[in-house]
Amino acid sequence: MISANQPVNPGIVSVENSNKLLTTSDGSSTLLNSNTGETYHSMEGAVMESKHVYVSPTFDTFKNREKINILEVGFGTGLNTLITFLESGKSNIAVYYETLEPYPIPESAWSTLNYPCILGGEEQFSGFHKCKYDTFVEYQHFVFVKRCCKIEDFVSDNHFDAVYFDAFSPNVQPEMWTVEIFNKIYQLLNNKGILLTYSAKGIVKKALRNAGFKVVRLNGAGHKHHMLKAIKHEIITDF
Ligand SMILES: C[S@@+](CC[C@H](N)C(=O)[O-])C[C@H]1O[C@@H](n2cnc3c(N)ncnc32)[C@H](O)[C@@H]1O
Repeated sequence: MISANQPVNPGIVSVENSNKLLTTSDGSSTLLNSNTGETYHSMEGAVMESKHVYVSPTFDTFKNREKINILEVGFGTGLNTLITFLESGKSNIAVYYETLEPYPIPESAWSTLNYPCILGGEEQFSGFHKCKYDTFVEYQHFVFVKRCCKIEDFVSDNHFDAVYFDAFSPNVQPEMWTVEIFNKIYQLLNNKGILLTYSAKGIVKKALRNAGFKVVRLNGAGHKHHMLKAIKHEIITDF
């Protein structure tokens, strides 16, 4: 039996029946989810992927703003949240961050992740995981709220500038990558708001276009050729 203190090749340790801790190529950890057989991040680098796919494009797109509203589909390990919090401090842009997670990772698993050791923000990282659902938490100019809710059931009066669409892949969770879900996200976005995702599969592009998005392919993280940035572009006509 593998224990949490006995890494085996290449850095795999068992932390929970359903999660295995792995080390990705940039030295940051991730988890392998045994229900889907997929890792929470690219094995080429969890931190690298989070910055490349979600955080950098968001802060680049809205660099002239004082505040960005972000919705994340799939809180998971909390890595996107932590990096966004840190970037908000560096760029001096306030962030409202709402995240959805119907299947939270237990503390025995998330507490083994090395993100705060690499990036800092230890207090906030555990705060994001431990805070109650539907309760607003504020760290400097970062406001955070977590919902124990599927995107399918999510209802909100808020409108968002960026959506981090970080579901498991279309191969294992095809029900997440549909025109119905993307229609819903389109309605949740402000005009010129963006949806970012690591998958650039044909069916994903098609569903996004059918939901009304303008779809742009960007260079993918690591060896991946592409990722997607989908833009809500409503033509508003004044009469
Ligand atoms: C690829 S992982 C996300 C990684 C995460 N963003 C991170 O930084 O660790 C996909 C996440 O989506 C969550 N998820 C699964 N079904 C969902 C649904 N219907 N709505 C929202 N999130 C869902 C999973 O539980 C999982 O945490």
